[in-house]
Amino acid sequence: MRRKLIAGNWKMNKLKADGIELARSVFEKCTVNLPFDVLICPPMSLLGLIADMPHGSCGIGSQDVAETIKESGAFTGDVSAKMVCDLGATHAIVGHSERRTLHHETDDVVRQKAENAMAAGLTAVICIGETEAEREGGEALSVVSRQIQGSVPTTATSENCVIAYEPVWAIGTGKTPTVADVAEVHAAVRAELVKLLGQEVANKMRILYGGSVKPSNARELLSVDNVDGALIGGASLKIDDFWGIASTQL
Ligand code: 13P
Repeated sequence: MRRKLIAGNWKMNKLKADGIELARSVFEKCTVNLPFDVLICPPMSLLGLIADMPHGSCGIGSQDVAETIKESGAFTGDVSAKMVCDLGATHAIVGHSERRTLHHETDDVVRQKAENAMAAGLTAVICIGETEAEREGGEALSVVSRQIQGSVPTTATSENCVIAYEPVWAIGTGKTPTVADVAEVHAAVRAELVKLLGQEVANKMRILYGGSVKPSNARELLSVDNVDGALIGGASLKIDDFWGIASTQL
């Protein structure tokens, strides 16, 4: 049985005061025994501050790590996975569609970042997902299969890796795929993981759904076969929305 993971990706949001307040509200919820795992991924500017707060069982993740295999050196603006780990993080998102699109990150780059995260002791949250044109062209399954094969290191395990399926056209748009479409893609992702990592590892690996998850659709999306949690953007920025989603799993 895979334990669900409710994860918030704050993206480039929150200044210090608001970020600390939001983190505190989430952490308060994580002081009791919950039947699921919780993760928040604040911007790098707040990661250390937030990781230093008492955070109960809540995981803390970065939204990226440096591509270079080096742990330090002349890489202006980059933050290595080791540095992220040193700040107290447990997870790192890699390959988010905003990085694949805006920063032209390829599957090779994403796989290297995932490897760096794992080598530093972090759990990599590897994002995949098709664009609207790819979905309309009937290519959704082939795109996510290619991304799995290209972005997921063969050393991935259920401990050091989580997959997040985020259809690009569903991110921040209020649009979500049908339950049948989510089920189809998540089953295809699982099958691709079996090919890459073997049945045993693939069966234990969590596959999150992300893209316009909100309190009103969370119960339905999270009850789909092979949906092992949610990666939440906009709705993770308000405690009532974030916890409204999480509470559907209580
Ligand atoms: P939204 O929940 O705002 O659609 O964003 C999803 C996302 O990109 C999480 O990584």
